[in-house]
Amino acid sequence: MAKILVNSSGPLHGEVEISGAKNAVLPLLAATLMTDKTCVIEGVPDLADVTVMKKMLTNYGAVIDDSVKGELRVTVGEITSCEGDAELVQEMRASIFTMGPMLARAGKVIMPMPGGCTIGKRPIDLHLKGFRALGAKVVEDSVNDIVTVTAPPEGLKGDAIYLDFPSVGATENILMAATLAKGTTIIENAAKEPEIIDLANLLNKMGARIKYAGTDMIRIEGVECLSGCIHAVIPDRIETGTFMLAAAITRGDILIKNALPGHVRPIIAKLKECNVGVELTDEGIYIDARDRELIATDIKTLPYPGFPTDIQSPFMAFLTTVKGQSAVIETVFENRFMHVVELNRMGADISTENRKAIVPGNKQLHGAKVRATDLRAGAAMVLAGLVATGTTEISEIYHIERGYENFVGKFKGLGADIMKIDND
Ligand code: UD1
Repeated sequence: MAKILVNSSGPLHGEVEISGAKNAVLPLLAATLMTDKTCVIEGVPDLADVTVMKKMLTNYGAVIDDSVKGELRVTVGEITSCEGDAELVQEMRASIFTMGPMLARAGKVIMPMPGGCTIGKRPIDLHLKGFRALGAKVVEDSVNDIVTVTAPPEGLKGDAIYLDFPSVGATENILMAATLAKGTTIIENAAKEPEIIDLANLLNKMGARIKYAGTDMIRIEGVECLSGCIHAVIPDRIETGTFMLAAAITRGDILIKNALPGHVRPIIAKLKECNVGVELTDEGIYIDARDRELIATDIKTLPYPGFPTDIQSPFMAFLTTVKGQSAVIETVFENRFMHVVELNRMGADISTENRKAIVPGNKQLHGAKVRATDLRAGAAMVLAGLVATGTTEISEIYHIERGYENFVGKFKGLGADIMKIDND
C-alpha cells in the first residue's frame, strides 16, 4: 500500500497555486447529465474522486473528452442506464449527486447506498425528503441497500421544501431536480456554501432559472430543458485553508495564489486570533507566521459561513503547537474526531468528550506510524508530520488522493521534506 513519509521540515516558504474545488466540481459534473448538449468544465482538478465521477457519468451514457488537461467536455446524448454503479457509489459518497439530475432528466434513478469518508452515519433522508416533495416516489430496499426514486408520469412538480439541517448535498440534489420540475420550488434552510452558488451559476448558464443561491432560501422556476455551457470551477477553499495552516504550523510564510479570501473568512479570523499574520494581496492570501508567538483559540464547526468542518482536523494539528489550551467543538458530523487517536500517537495528548476536544498546546510532536482516517484527517497528519521530530509514516493515503491535487508535489515546492512511496 502506498504511504507518505514526512520529516521535520522547518518553516515552509514560497508560493502555491490552488486547484479547482473538489466539492464544486463533483456536483457540476453531475449536472451535465441534465442536458443532451455538450458542457465544458474548466479548471478541473486531477483527483481520484473526479475519476470516479467520470466513470459514474459514463455508466449513465456520457461521452467524455478529457484530452485537454484540466478540462472535461461532457456530452450525455442519451441516457443508457438509470442505475448507479454500486462499486463507484461505495468508493465515493458524492456519487449520490447524480440522483437529482437523473431523476430530472430520465424520470428514474436506482441508487445503491453510498460510502465515502467514515465520518458519521451520513444518511440521505433530506435528499429523499426533497425528491418526495417534488412528487417522486421513493422506495427504500433496506435488505439490498438500494433506493429507487421515480418521477410521476406527468413529471416532477415544484413545491416548498424545508431542510431540517442545511445539508450541502441535499441542497444540491434538490436544486438540480427542481430545475427541470414544473412550477416553482423554494428550498428553505438551504445550505449557503460557495459550491452551491457555483452549481447554480452553471445551471443558470445552461438555461435554468435559479435565484438567491448562497442564501438560505433558494427559489427555482422550473424550465423545460437545458442547453450546454462553458464553466470554470471555483478555487478550492479547503485546499486554501490547508496551505494557510501549513504556513502557520511550520512558522513559515506562504503566498496562496488563486484563492478567494471571501470563501475562507472564518479560517482567516481564527488564524488572526492565534496571532498569525494574514495579508490579502493582489496575488493571493499571504500567511506569515515567522517570529511570532502563536496562541490558543477555540473553534466550533458550523455550516457555511461558519468555520468549515473540513478544516477542523488540520486546524487541530496546528493548535497542538501554539501556546495555551484550545477547545474544538464539532457540530456538523457526529464522528469526526478519528484523527485525535492518530495525533495522540504523535504525542498530542488531546482528550475528547462527545463533540468536544481539548487540545493542550506547546507540544513537540514526534514522528509515528499514523493513518489518514479520512481525507482531511490525512492532511492533518501531513501538517503534524512537518513539525514532528523524526519521520511520520502515513498510511491509507488514498483518502488524501481523493481530494487534493498533487498534494505531495505542492508541499515539496514549499520546501517540505515529504515523499510518497508506493509499497512497503
Ligand atoms: C459536503 C462536503 C463535505 C463537507 C460537508 C459539510 C461534498 C462532496 N462534500 O458533504 O466535504 O464536510 O458537506 O460541509 O460537497 N445529513 C443528514 N441527512 C441528509 C444529509 C445530511 O442528516 O440527508 C447530515 C449529515 O449526516 C451530516 C450533516 O447533515 O451530519 C452535514 O452533511 P452534508 O452537508 O449533507 O454533507 P455532504 O453533502 O455529505
